[in-house]
Amino acid sequence: MADKLIIFDTTLRDGEQSPGASMTKDEKLRIARQLERLKVDVIEAGFAASSNGDFEAVQAIAHAIKDSTICSLSRANDRDISRAAEALKGANSARIHTFIATSALHMEKKLRMTPEQVLEQARQSVRFARNLVADIEFSPEDGYRSDPDFLCRVLEAVIAEGATTINVPDTVGYAIPELYGNFIKTLRERIPNSDKAIWSVHCHNDLGMAVANSLAGVKIGGARQVECTINGLGERAGNCSLEEVVMAIKTRRDYFDLDLNIDAKHIVAASRMVSQTTGFVVQPNKAVVGANAFAHASGIHQDGVLKARDTYEIMRAEDVGWSANKIVLGKLSGRNAFKQRLQELGVSLESETEVNSAFTRFKELADRKSEIFDEDILALVSDESVTAEKEQYGFVSLFQQSETGEHPRARIVFTVDGHEVRGESEGNGPVDASLKAIESHVKSGAEMVLYSVNAISGSTESQGEVTVRLQNSGRVVNGVGADPDIVVASAKAYLSALNKLQSKADRVAAQG
Ligand code: KIV
Ligand code: ZN
Repeated sequence: MADKLIIFDTTLRDGEQSPGASMTKDEKLRIARQLERLKVDVIEAGFAASSNGDFEAVQAIAHAIKDSTICSLSRANDRDISRAAEALKGANSARIHTFIATSALHMEKKLRMTPEQVLEQARQSVRFARNLVADIEFSPEDGYRSDPDFLCRVLEAVIAEGATTINVPDTVGYAIPELYGNFIKTLRERIPNSDKAIWSVHCHNDLGMAVANSLAGVKIGGARQVECTINGLGERAGNCSLEEVVMAIKTRRDYFDLDLNIDAKHIVAASRMVSQTTGFVVQPNKAVVGANAFAHASGIHQDGVLKARDTYEIMRAEDVGWSANKIVLGKLSGRNAFKQRLQELGVSLESETEVNSAFTRFKELADRKSEIFDEDILALVSDESVTAEKEQYGFVSLFQQSETGEHPRARIVFTVDGHEVRGESEGNGPVDASLKAIESHVKSGAEMVLYSVNAISGSTESQGEVTVRLQNSGRVVNGVGADPDIVVASAKAYLSALNKLQSKADRVAAQG
């Protein structure tokens, strides 16, 4: 029988650490449900001690999710570990993931601790955590750049204290596949009690090798857990991408000979959901989930695929959740058809009120756009998460006027804590005028560091999906808005970013 490879998703923790990718509790819960549908084995729901918001998100996910193990990160100290255990109470299956840096650089410059102090703290923390939860993961942060002799001592000690998973992070994405694979292999061979724990890989993508390194850790090193994120979301160049690692293991089962729990047909919906929630757009040529991942433009390729699809395709688009028939619904589609399509896309809305509200927006959209694609439906549903929250700012209506040679003007109506207000402004273009009209009232003083427009589904009839990234007092947030009118989409995105700026998060960085 083939070994099982555990998929540990950290989109909601390491992914969320990416500047601008912070999510609300409801957004995290929605993504956690999608990860459960995907049959992810372990969901790292957050870093409970980092902020009250993260604590509540871990707690809510621990209560709602039944089929995946729920994990909270915690630094190697009693306070963080107790907080993680508290947030995880009520979970069907709970894991505490505790970490401390072990590289000479991090110990000396960041922690200002001696190696002996770090070893002792690691040992004590695992002992403390083991009294609260049975499933304990330990990570030596910057493990790959740590002295192997010291690392062996630390890992042997924490396994002896009861750590059940040993994760070896390449925190700064410095590894090379063969070297990383051999690093894990050597640790497993040298540590006498290494067989008492499951070995895990956690690779960052700074040199574009996170997936390759993770796979080498599995194949050469014998790791049986991979830590990854949807779309490879994460700080700097991101983490190992879940969809790529999963499809590599599935497609090349002949080579890896490993079993996975993952139900891959929910991958595309998960990718869309994460992208729309965070505003991190997926590049068109991204493996598995990019819009072009299964598109054949050249005549020779198209001809080949029509004759026998495996001439140029190694995976089937529908196996990862791309629908074969792309035009799905129209203005005559009823509530049941809409609800069924949501189910087929792997989206389940919490209540009938949420379904009704999404269906109303679907009808409004169908009046303006004759063909509704899966991407439109997913955008509508992720909009639901914006409106479901008690947000400070909400879009109501927009009027804008532009003519060649004239200064564009915009008038916007939006709500502030439920009360309608109006703003008016001129601008360089209609989008500029509309956002200035909002700012004329809000006066946030935030700096816009990114503005991007993306057509949700190909044609000019498509909805525009706008991402706005704002920065204020050291905080960076992304807002996303979708509408067939890109000026309206821009205003929605701007208001969504302002809402995120308002929700003050004073969190502790995991690698701080
Ligand atoms: O990259 C890293 O080292 C981490 C640890 C906190 C596990 O994310
Ligand atoms: Zn990491």
